[in-house]
Amino acid sequence: MTLTRAKRARCRARRPRICGVPLPCGGAHPRPLRFRTWLFTIPVISLIFVAGCNGSRHDVTDAGLDVKPIGAPIEIKTPLGLPPVPIPPGAPETAETVALGRKLFYERKLSMDNTLACASCHNPLLGFTDGQRHSIGVGGKVGIRNAPTLVNAAYVPAQFWDGRAHSLEEQAGGPMANPIEMNQAHEVTVSKLAADPVYRAQFAKAFGAGLVTIGKVTTALAGFERTLISGNSPFDQYEFGGNKSALSPAAVRGLAIFRDPKRGNCAACHTIDKSYAVSENSRKTGTVPGSPPEDPQSSFRVGRRASAPFALFTDGKFHNIGVGVNDEGELTDLGRYSETKLEADKGAFKTPTLRNVAKTAPYMHDGSLKTLKDVVDFYAGGGNSNPYLDKEIKTIKLSGADRADLVEFLKSLTGEMPPNVGPPENTQMGRLK
Ligand code: HEC
Ligand code: HEC
Repeated sequence: MTLTRAKRARCRARRPRICGVPLPCGGAHPRPLRFRTWLFTIPVISLIFVAGCNGSRHDVTDAGLDVKPIGAPIEIKTPLGLPPVPIPPGAPETAETVALGRKLFYERKLSMDNTLACASCHNPLLGFTDGQRHSIGVGGKVGIRNAPTLVNAAYVPAQFWDGRAHSLEEQAGGPMANPIEMNQAHEVTVSKLAADPVYRAQFAKAFGAGLVTIGKVTTALAGFERTLISGNSPFDQYEFGGNKSALSPAAVRGLAIFRDPKRGNCAACHTIDKSYAVSENSRKTGTVPGSPPEDPQSSFRVGRRASAPFALFTDGKFHNIGVGVNDEGELTDLGRYSETKLEADKGAFKTPTLRNVAKTAPYMHDGSLKTLKDVVDFYAGGGNSNPYLDKEIKTIKLSGADRADLVEFLKSLTGEMPPNVGPPENTQMGRLK
């Protein structure tokens, strides 16, 4: 089958990859992993098994292109402390896609042996992480990276510790097919779901008549993930809600250290923002007709103005802070460099949000720090020395009391989650604490 030049260019730019290895552009794009592609993929996957791949990196696919929900667009409510949620053009959130995405997120059929759901490694009870140092996939295969929280992932321009996926849609296809995660070909996932009349009806309600496709699966998953929004923490009530008793005196002292460039300097990267760029599109969706009425009991609000103050606690950028350096001073994971091949990106990882961080231990891309106290001690020591260490990371003079105050402040970032993000009724999630 021949491709037009434009299609081929788009395919090249966005084609699926297995552990960073791009797959060839097939005529059926954007249905990426059809049979012919798999003929190529199978040897690639075997190679990855032999070569060890890169631990628990999800692979990136472009699944999700050209899939259109049919329902009325809805706005995602945001709580105190957060800007409007950016929605990609052409993929509006609808009540039906979000409900379907929620069901899929807790669905064990997405894995080869029906034991793992996305929620097994992104467990709502653990701030959407798994509490493990390194994630464990189907058959007990252990990866090399720590499962990041999915809370407020909607705001982050690049997904994964190394930022190799550019949208939640692009990201979502990866873990299903990743041999060390769910280890199931997209075709198999689709046929398992399509065999279930309840799913068939739910897909039709969300996307109209037609076959279940992997693009619809990833669009629904991403739609649900965008609703995993957390704010209105004690910090937000103190900082943005005018409630000066919302934080303990220790947490207030911790916040001052966090912000002070001459002390903690934490906000240099874990930003308490003024400058988050809200896209024109998301601004428009704030006034979409048909948004659900607001629940007066909820602190979640529709259409908060972009100019209202907020804090994401991440700059969305990549830094080498000296995690993952062995005794010889060598980096054990090149991080962002694997994507950009820029020398300066060696050992750089995405700044994670700190919202709900008290629930998401252990910490860092390699899960090497067990507690928040360990993290603060690590920063006080100026990170592990290596040639690519960020210039903002240096030894900090912090007394024991200062360190305890910083930890108290970090704990004040545990916020509210919206209702309806836990498992839908009658869900058996497999390995879930
Ligand atoms: C076996 C455990 C495991 C399963 C199952 C799993 N994930 Fe992940 N997830 C991880 C790990 C580990 C990472 C970090 C990998 C990296 O950065 O290289 C991650 C990263 C992510 C990210 C990027 C977050 C960020 O801040 O960069 C998203 C989004 C995500 N997963 C969604 C999903 C979805 C959706 C599913 C189900 C289709 C899923 N995951 C299934 C372990 C898992
Ligand atoms: C130069 C930018 C930068 C500065 C300054 C900085 N951080 Fe970080 N922070 C990061 C990056 C990048 C990571 C992830 C690093 C990795 O895993 O290799 C991180 C990780 C963390 C984590 C782990 C979160 C998780 O989910 O695993 C915590 C907690 C944290 N930082 C708190 C702080 C505190 C407290 C300070 C101030 C003392 C601070 N950070 C200063 C960039 C920064």
